[in-house]
Amino acid sequence: MKSAKIISLLNQKGGVGKTTSSVSISHALSMKGYKVLLVDLDAQCNASESLGVNSSKVNVYSVLKGQEKLDFINASDNFYLLPASLDLAAFELEMSSEAGREYLLKEALEPVIAHLDFIIIDCSPNLGLLTINALTASEYYICPVLPHHLSITGFSTLLEVVNKIKRRLNEKLKLAGIIMTQFNKHKVLHRETAEVIQSHFEDKLFSTTIPENISLAEAPTSKQSIMDYAPTSKGAIAYRQLTEEIINKLK
Ligand SMILES: Nc1ncnc2c1ncn2[C@@H]1O[C@H](COP(=O)(O)OP(=O)(O)O)[C@@H](O)[C@H]1O
Ligand SMILES: [Mg+2]
Repeated sequence: MKSAKIISLLNQKGGVGKTTSSVSISHALSMKGYKVLLVDLDAQCNASESLGVNSSKVNVYSVLKGQEKLDFINASDNFYLLPASLDLAAFELEMSSEAGREYLLKEALEPVIAHLDFIIIDCSPNLGLLTINALTASEYYICPVLPHHLSITGFSTLLEVVNKIKRRLNEKLKLAGIIMTQFNKHKVLHRETAEVIQSHFEDKLFSTTIPENISLAEAPTSKQSIMDYAPTSKGAIAYRQLTEEIINKLK
């Protein structure tokens, strides 16, 4: 029987490429024939909007609150989306006295795990209750980072939170890898940062880096993933290569 690999795209910093990576990797996996669900767990709804989904009755908020049955939007062949909703912004406060509130997403996804190959969760730029739900439901997390020295400064906080979750809620949770995004190999700073990360995290830095690429920045406006918007762009090629690396690493 199938059992979906569940992967959270995690970094409490905004603008590091969580959403771009979630959408691009999900679509690339589905194009290889895997059945993929992308969960947009950010109240900003960027992943949903970048795929042309604006407001949907079935969304991760209504499902987590038990207001709607779990259902998906079919984004393309083998590629399903559980969209976000602006209401997610109130989730943490509303759930503050709910028993087992860290397990709501895990519980919601359980009925579909056997029907999917991958579930990719696009996290919000914070380490609050929604992100804790994502990490409780996941077996792996992937961190996109920008190639600046500052990008590493939040990492110890992130790892502390992950370690608490591993101890208390989900001992299976593992770092699948770190993605260097918006990388420009001609910039010394970018190359230096890659070396620093490599020396800290050894084999955890994916060898595929994602270049700065205008098509990746434009694709969301066209309501298409990079794989449809500009399939031969450097960005699309890099994300397909990264997807191969992820598949091989998680085998
Ligand atoms: N490799 C890239 N090259 C150029 N622009 C990028 C790249 N990756 C992301 N962007 C753009 O940078 C911004 C932040 O990316 P996003 O994926 O939304 O980050 P996050 O989800 O971590 O906040 C977006 O406008 C996105 O289109
Ligand atoms: Mg995002």
